[in-house]
Amino acid sequence: MAVEAGRDIAPAKGKLGVMLVGLGAVSTTFIAGVETVRRGRGLPIGSLSQMGTIRLGKRTEKRSPKIKEFVPLADLKDLVFTAWDPIPDDAYTAAVKAGVLDRHEHLDPIKDFLQGIKPLPAAFDQYYVKRLQGTNVKRGKTKRELAEQLREDIRSFRKTAGVSRVVLVWCASTEVFITPGPAHQSLAAFEQAMEQNDPAIAPSMLYAYAALMENVPFANGAPNLTVDVPALERLAEERRLPIGGKDFKTGQTMMKTVLAPAFKARMLGLAGWYSTNILGNRDGEVLDDPESFKTKEESKLGVLEYILQPDQYPELYGNVFHKVRINYYPPRGDNKEGWDNIDIFGWLGYPMQIKVDFLCRDSILAAPIVLDLALFFDLAQRARLSGIQEWLSFYFKSPQTAPGLYPEHDLFIQQTKLKNTLRWLMGEDQITHLGIEYYEKA
Ligand SMILES: NC(=O)c1ccc[n+]([C@@H]2O[C@H](COP(=O)([O-])OP(=O)(O)OC[C@H]3O[C@@H](n4cnc5c(N)ncnc54)[C@H](O)[C@@H]3O)[C@@H](O)[C@H]2O)c1
Repeated sequence: MAVEAGRDIAPAKGKLGVMLVGLGAVSTTFIAGVETVRRGRGLPIGSLSQMGTIRLGKRTEKRSPKIKEFVPLADLKDLVFTAWDPIPDDAYTAAVKAGVLDRHEHLDPIKDFLQGIKPLPAAFDQYYVKRLQGTNVKRGKTKRELAEQLREDIRSFRKTAGVSRVVLVWCASTEVFITPGPAHQSLAAFEQAMEQNDPAIAPSMLYAYAALMENVPFANGAPNLTVDVPALERLAEERRLPIGGKDFKTGQTMMKTVLAPAFKARMLGLAGWYSTNILGNRDGEVLDDPESFKTKEESKLGVLEYILQPDQYPELYGNVFHKVRINYYPPRGDNKEGWDNIDIFGWLGYPMQIKVDFLCRDSILAAPIVLDLALFFDLAQRARLSGIQEWLSFYFKSPQTAPGLYPEHDLFIQQTKLKNTLRWLMGEDQITHLGIEYYEKA
């Protein structure tokens, strides 16, 4: 039974343009995957929006529609893609080089489609991604000029692709570590800093600014600061646009945000957590640079602190040694191996160990997240949700929150929050799991 009217959500009419920053491993795996699914040659596994169901009402009501049938999401057939990249390879060439999807089984059958996606010149500066060199780049005297060129790209994509709505997802390389400073505090300071070519304004911020000025929601799949600054948060609120980030939560951190809440739920102590990775794709090469790694490290380290709350449980979590390493190892390509050695302790302090060895495929895990974010950010805009979309924390390693709020990292709290937000949008009851009514009959 509906308890309230729900939100008035504009219908998903017409085509949805998905503009990706970066046309590397994640972006091409996402685009090729969506096209393969559209042609009926594969399943969108890993995508909650496509595969997931949502329980509505009491358990006795037996109502569990598919999420995509419950909320008015854009249909996969209505997605149109484009991307920016400093490397001029079209999506087919980039996908072959990334080596994620099998060329004969998944890329050659859609070769024409992929070759039709050619990257727009990027707003790129090697100062922010040391290990990359690109020729397909925009020229401009100031960062402001580059941002204006990005805005023009968005306007012309709207026209030429005939899309009625656009979302933008950052799937580009991890930039060097930047902390929020004076240039990020207000829109006026931000715009002035762009004009003065202030190093505090990274290319990713230019894309975020351009998106917001063109009424486009922005999601950040990398750990860069990007839209996580007061100037852009306020701009998003004022323009009633959804934003979110940071850093897709895919492999090792996804596991961490499942295991750590389990230890805490059972009041088991933690002495140390050593996480290491070997990775051989371009992302691994970029992260081999200490400045880009620092950005990733911050994003990966934060989760345990927030989940375990050492201040509240000093005997259990007051002295955790947490270490994260990423090692560039070319032979593995995109097939990352993430090891975790976890030292826990139980009753009377007796030590125990857990070892996790996740032989994952980075972009196979990330592609469905890009899809869900594109669809949910578009939904958020049509539902007039603006500013930080905390209900989409489920997808991020380092979720943005309102100032003063700590982030929820526990994957299942995030999942509950996401589904309850969908119920709220559609005027359905929240599910609290109290369930007393099944036992206390009137
Ligand atoms: N795959 C995962 O599991 C995962 C998880 C979390 C985050 N990420 C992040 O997603 C991003 C993409 O990963 P990937 O494996 O596709 O990397 P990739 O190196 O294959 O692709 C990134 C692309 O971005 C381009 N690029 C760099 N700077 C740019 C700019 N200013 N404008 C436009 N394009 C730019 C690069 O040329 C490259 O082609 C990385 O930042 C990575 O850290 C990936």
